[in-house]
Amino acid sequence: MKLAVYQFEPLFGDIEANVQKIEHAVNSVEFDLLILPELCTTGYQFNSHEEVAGLSETIPGGLASKRLETLAARKNGFIAAGIAEKSEKGFYNSAILVGPEGYIGKYRKIHLFDEEKLFFLPGNLGFPVFDIEQARIGLMICFDWIFPEAARTLALKGADILCQPANLVLSYCQQAMVTRAVENRTFIVTANRIGTEARGGKPPLNFTGMSQIISPKGEKVLGFSETEEKIKIVDINPEDAHDKWITPRNQLFKDRRGEFYEL
Ligand code: ACM
Repeated sequence: MKLAVYQFEPLFGDIEANVQKIEHAVNSVEFDLLILPELCTTGYQFNSHEEVAGLSETIPGGLASKRLETLAARKNGFIAAGIAEKSEKGFYNSAILVGPEGYIGKYRKIHLFDEEKLFFLPGNLGFPVFDIEQARIGLMICFDWIFPEAARTLALKGADILCQPANLVLSYCQQAMVTRAVENRTFIVTANRIGTEARGGKPPLNFTGMSQIISPKGEKVLGFSETEEKIKIVDINPEDAHDKWITPRNQLFKDRRGEFYEL
């Protein structure tokens, strides 16, 4: 299965430009599953509810969602991407999953980071796993990484590949995801953005790049630098995530001692 990550710098507030950039980036490549960064069609550092209202969209049905559906059909592949979602209740920092046949599902970020709490509602859909036949795909977003429960929940629900659209500003996540992958025996794809946003006189946010794909054995099978703007692809076997045996006597999930965990 060909997994692709496009690490890039979205332009704040210009959905059309960002979608065109994505469309252009995939022109000459083939993939089965492409993972894009968090809020990759809008940019990250919002200043007001009016800005979020103007740039968010319904999922499915919104501008970027539809264009990603069209792109997935054209490339005959699946795409997971971070999008600002508008709903009747308010706004969510969401991730969409689309495929050759159209819209599949979405995830609404459960653990909001810092100022996201001013603009978005906390996710209310749980951690979803989608079966796309080649693999079972789990969705989480960026700061969810610091709660090991996110990756664990997706793994317990049967995900082979955890897709993590990200706009990381702290420096620990990439290292931490090696542990998340090993402790759950899943692939983890972190699709991060690059560049800086310093909007409305606020302190700059420096996004850390270094997108990566970690195997169920903790190996980095794809990596990026802090500044590369590129699409990269690696061939993986999702079935590697099915083997949860650590030794002949230790099965990762069967050996859990839930009765002793304070949840
Ligand atoms: C983050 O969750 N975007 C840091």
